[in-house]
Amino acid sequence: MKKLLGLLALSGFIITSQAQTDSLYDRYQAQALAIYNQMTLDQKIGQLLMPSYVLLAQSVSENGALCQAAVNKGVPIAEMIKDCGLDQIKNYHLGAVLTGGGPYYNAPTLQNWAKLNEIAASQHRFGNPSDPLLLTGNDAIHGNMHLQGAVIFPHNIGLGVTHNLHLIQQIGLAVGQDSLASGFNWIYMPTVAVAQDLRWGRTYESFGQDPALVNSMATTYILGFQNINQNKIRGTLATAKHFMGDGATQYGFDEGDDAFVGPLSKFWYENGQGYEGALRAKVGSIMVSYSAINGDNTRMHFGGDWDSINLFKISGIKGSDGKNYRFDGFMVSDWNGPTRAAYFYDQANQTTLTLPEIMAKTINAGVDMIMLGQGDTTNPFDPNSKPNFTSVGEVAAAIKTAYQNHAISEARLQDAVTRILAVKLAMQPQTVTNYSALQAKERQLALLAAQQSLVLLKNQDRLLPLIPTKIKNIIFVGDTDDLGLQNGGWTVNWQGQRGSEYFTGADKISSGALTLEEGVKAELKKYPINYYHVNKDTNDVPVTLDPKTTAVIALVSEMPYAEFMGDIGNAEQPDLWYDLGATYGYNLYLGLPQSQFMGLQFTKKEADAIHDFKLRGMKVLTVAYSGRPVILSEGGLAAPLPQSDAVIAAFLPGTLGGTALADAIFGHYRFRSAANGKSNTLTFPWPRNMKDVSEHFKNGALYPVGYGLSN
Ligand code: BGC
Repeated sequence: MKKLLGLLALSGFIITSQAQTDSLYDRYQAQALAIYNQMTLDQKIGQLLMPSYVLLAQSVSENGALCQAAVNKGVPIAEMIKDCGLDQIKNYHLGAVLTGGGPYYNAPTLQNWAKLNEIAASQHRFGNPSDPLLLTGNDAIHGNMHLQGAVIFPHNIGLGVTHNLHLIQQIGLAVGQDSLASGFNWIYMPTVAVAQDLRWGRTYESFGQDPALVNSMATTYILGFQNINQNKIRGTLATAKHFMGDGATQYGFDEGDDAFVGPLSKFWYENGQGYEGALRAKVGSIMVSYSAINGDNTRMHFGGDWDSINLFKISGIKGSDGKNYRFDGFMVSDWNGPTRAAYFYDQANQTTLTLPEIMAKTINAGVDMIMLGQGDTTNPFDPNSKPNFTSVGEVAAAIKTAYQNHAISEARLQDAVTRILAVKLAMQPQTVTNYSALQAKERQLALLAAQQSLVLLKNQDRLLPLIPTKIKNIIFVGDTDDLGLQNGGWTVNWQGQRGSEYFTGADKISSGALTLEEGVKAELKKYPINYYHVNKDTNDVPVTLDPKTTAVIALVSEMPYAEFMGDIGNAEQPDLWYDLGATYGYNLYLGLPQSQFMGLQFTKKEADAIHDFKLRGMKVLTVAYSGRPVILSEGGLAAPLPQSDAVIAAFLPGTLGGTALADAIFGHYRFRSAANGKSNTLTFPWPRNMKDVSEHFKNGALYPVGYGLSN
């Protein structure tokens, strides 16, 4: 450990032994300890467990089918408790539940979620009177995303482009309130990863490649979410995730191995600044990831470096601002983290850990709370392998065995439980009184964020802004009418989905959702304009259109994806997760099965049409939706960048994306640049080709960080 401290001291990002003076949760420790001393062993163990609603329901019926039917039918509460296994909250004295990637309802509305969370809380009060509150967790990755009709904000990559810390804080505040309104008091946000390889399927969850930017955005987002006032969290508990180096894995292989060269201090400096920012904002929880460091799986790591969790919690870190920060909140594992880490441990050590051993190693590594997903399999790459556990009860029993065998000490149990209780004691969420006013505010914020998240990559002969009075015809090329594409992954469902299923009728209005095409039409509604389309179903463009009064607006887009399903394959090493995705049929989301090409191109039909329009003298604007900078310059006539006069990289702008784009295209919003405010400038380098990507821009980028044209 001494060696590690020495290495870290070199970087200015050092571990120190001096405790932070203005910590928040420590002040609730004495109270937490008093509660702890009154608790039974089972109650203490219950604090460490956070099952998903799905796991609870699966204990009652296969795939939770009974629960699914019950919630969708709206059966009486007693029946819902039974069919959804919510009585386990009481029976095992559980301190937390979560909803993970998938929706629970056919209609995942605010009211339905609020009802479920309320019933869960009623079970908790009855079962564990000494526990101040049941934590109800939700990802809220870009807005309160599990709700139909929620306002969806740009993903973090777009928020990074805004460079607007004040705006991000306001978004955090609003999303926190929205989550509270639906009964969730804990958000697993923000991801503070510094994505190092664009092939990583979670690149869009990263604010950018500058550690200092991630540091400051982590602070402001968390200040917004938690909204601490007079030493109480009035908003939602936030989470910085997924601890060290989740974005630094080799080849961008999700949950893979951080192969880094050089001192550990450099690694911390490049990947850990988000945690410094999070501690500055007094984040209450940190989620630890599955990734390993330099291929070492001989210990269970949790977040790259095993020792670092404890260092963080015990000694504290000296931040780049010279101040001292120590984490006095609690660490939560990722979805089935312990069993997944155990799989790699078993492989490396030629052994098979038992469930009590897995739990002991996890808790002794410094993880305080365990997130139990859907019941993990012993081999995560083989969906047919036998499960490690099928119910929360089995895990509670395993922890008890480990404790009774002295594999988990009393001191460690007390530390874990009191950390969790102290955070809970600091929580005093404010109820939302006017939800529609909150949504109106969110639409406003989402529009600003979407506008400032656009990057103008090319603007030949100053094509943009287009002047409405000079246009008589607009030709839309590609999927310009698809909300799913502009929202991306983590929208209602884990993987997101194409189309507008959850954004129709009243939900369309509440979420402010307009597609690119709808945004343009709304912007131009007072002008007499004819609209035409070239897409897979149609080409209704007459040959007689006057090129001088005709604008072509094309769209290229990645398909929605989340986590490892969005990894781009690589020639160097097969991506096991990607293959697993293919087994499940998830590669359908990517649209490019087993792709090693991280780029977007026009289809043949679109390319031919665009070529023809250009020959006729028309100007072409292309908008790109993507979760990362993608190659736009390859493919001859199919290459969007050379074949277009103007190109906007819109990333994943969310429900207000269509309006924001229309504003920018027609000049109601003017692109800024590094020289005037930094909004609308890249936080990741833009590649020419796959070599740029795999060599990490050794020879420079097509567009460097900071690039973005103004107009
Ligand atoms: C992801 C986390 C997420 C959790 C709960 C995991 O698969 O890695 O980012 O918070 O699921 O949905």
